[in-house]
Amino acid sequence: MEPIKLAFFDAKEYDKASFDAANDGRFAIDYYDTRLSEATVRLAEGCDAVCAFVNDEINAAVLDALTGFGIRLAALRCAGYNNVDIRHAYGRVHVVRVPAYSPYAVAEHAMALLLTSVRRIHKAYIRTKDFNFSLNGLTGFDLHGKTVGIVGTGKIGRIFADICRGFGMHVIAYDKFPAKDSGIEYVPLDELWARSDIISFHCPLTEENRHMVNRDSIAAMKKGVMLINTSRGGLIDSEALLTGIKDRKIGGACLDVYEEESNVFFHDFSGHIVDDDTLSRLITMPNVIVTSHQAFLTAEALQNIAETTLGNVERFLQTGACENEICYKCGKITACPQDHKGKCF
Ligand code: NAI
Repeated sequence: MEPIKLAFFDAKEYDKASFDAANDGRFAIDYYDTRLSEATVRLAEGCDAVCAFVNDEINAAVLDALTGFGIRLAALRCAGYNNVDIRHAYGRVHVVRVPAYSPYAVAEHAMALLLTSVRRIHKAYIRTKDFNFSLNGLTGFDLHGKTVGIVGTGKIGRIFADICRGFGMHVIAYDKFPAKDSGIEYVPLDELWARSDIISFHCPLTEENRHMVNRDSIAAMKKGVMLINTSRGGLIDSEALLTGIKDRKIGGACLDVYEEESNVFFHDFSGHIVDDDTLSRLITMPNVIVTSHQAFLTAEALQNIAETTLGNVERFLQTGACENEICYKCGKITACPQDHKGKCF
């Protein structure tokens, strides 16, 4: 049988290693360092499917071009799909994703960021490298007994809640669709802002919750609140965050995602001038830690991503259905079983 031809965009060394390890000859993969966009989509011509990541632009023009090339499948190797014009995709290009690759990886990274920030590990590491053993300015606080507010209690949010409970923290949460019988104390958002010492975001980015952290919500938070965002940058209005930090209202921010990250993250800008003043200013703050959308990056997650993505493509192309298809019409963002014909095209 002819191998399935896959155009793989925004390919990094670790992607190539994990996908090559998962590919036993079923796929002919063309790896492209460049991102998928209107300018690069022609690279996919002649392929059976495209494979894309969080910062590839799968907008209407890209979807039309794919349709023109006869490509009916876009395989996301991530969970979030806010970079896809999913409504325009309907009837044209099927979109599959990896709903969960390692929720532990992301939840553990959120806690790693929190501990680093609270115990000033990032400062201590640099000091002791320079044989500076002074403790001045390194005072942290106990997590035990603090209240953590979790926004989004899906796979990642719930694991993060368990980790926090292990530290003796009190967990409260907000979710648009609260989980029944979960034992989680759900509260309205304004109560979560008011009661939390630490707030961690684990919900998808939608038009409705874009900039849910803004001037008003920051005003409603406790003085000294710590914010952790490993979800999507657009949840936080970065200018409002910067103002909150300068006003000493926000005690710390741990950011694995940033709303304008697509221009910067995953690239090496050392030795270059970064044009994004807001990001640059945030990074200069002593109480801000930025990682470059790294929360997913564990060996286990990369293996799951590769195996699930290739499985999604193979299943879809062979059977015309895949349980990991995204369908805005049926509203099932975690699984579209496709047995309800008339909804999915
Ligand atoms: P999930 O689908 O299991 O859980 C999401 C939860 O958010 C659900 O309980 C849902 O009801 C809730 N939700 C939906 N809309 C909401 C809203 N407007 N307000 C509050 N809650 C809302 O997703 P999972 O796997 O836990 O992932 C969460 C997010 O983490 C993803 O959407 C993605 O953006 C992000 N992510 C980040 C990664 C990274 O490397 N930084 C890697 C993987 C995911």
